[in-house]
Amino acid sequence: MSDLHVGEGLFRPELLSAAIREANELAPDLVVIAGDLTMEGYRNEFEECKRFLSELACGHVVVAMGNHDARNVGYRHFEDFFGARDSVTTVAVSEGRAKVVAIDSTKPDLDEGEVGREHYGWLDAELRGWTEGPRIVVIHHHILAVPGTGRDVNNLRDAGDVMAILRELEVDLVLSGHRHVPYVWSISGVRVVHSGTVSTLRVRGTMPPSYNVIEIDADEVSIALRQPGQGSQGEEPLARFARQPVTTSSFYPELERFVRYDRDPLSPPPAARA
Ligand SMILES: [Fe+2]
Ligand SMILES: [Fe+2]
Repeated sequence: MSDLHVGEGLFRPELLSAAIREANELAPDLVVIAGDLTMEGYRNEFEECKRFLSELACGHVVVAMGNHDARNVGYRHFEDFFGARDSVTTVAVSEGRAKVVAIDSTKPDLDEGEVGREHYGWLDAELRGWTEGPRIVVIHHHILAVPGTGRDVNNLRDAGDVMAILRELEVDLVLSGHRHVPYVWSISGVRVVHSGTVSTLRVRGTMPPSYNVIEIDADEVSIALRQPGQGSQGEEPLARFARQPVTTSSFYPELERFVRYDRDPLSPPPAARA
């Protein structure tokens, strides 16, 4: 789930309580909160959000920063209530262990996001060679445009670099929010899954407040859309795809030709320096 936006205005606490109750009924292996916990990044909003999220019974709750949480120096409060803004979690799943890497893609007081070159090497170190189970990345901002959201703004400014890295690292799932519309893209073997806003009326068009339920088994990943308060009765399928990524393309140049995070692009290539 994402875009809780606890605070003044269009936040609806009864929706968040319902989503948390329903999440507890599902008893999932993992609950991901993909950013925008608050409206303005104020400490009292984080405090209230923490009160809600402490009701989650799940042993693994991964919380990522959203752009609203970085307003008014809110990232300091985020750290106080939810810990590091970048985090790595491993979760026991039927096929072994999933690795979940949550990245802070925010910049203080800006609505747009950026993973940033300083994160690229870290992402690589965490995910390259992880063979024990699914590789999951959590980023608040959208890497790919989300339909039904009007003019595309505030996307991840280094989306191209990040997409190339996710492809290279064979990331299974990217969990994002930000646009308040649920949607799924599958591109070059990477599945980018957006959740809508779970607990506000900050919706777009006819899409209601919602959260996603993701099931991964040996053969398949299925994603269902739920509206808080309606439980399984209101559930509708959102997307389904093979557990093993299907890509119709091969791509040959090395990542370093496009994304260089360990060397000055103007310095001669290693071969020329030797
Ligand atoms: Fe949001
Ligand atoms: Fe956002």
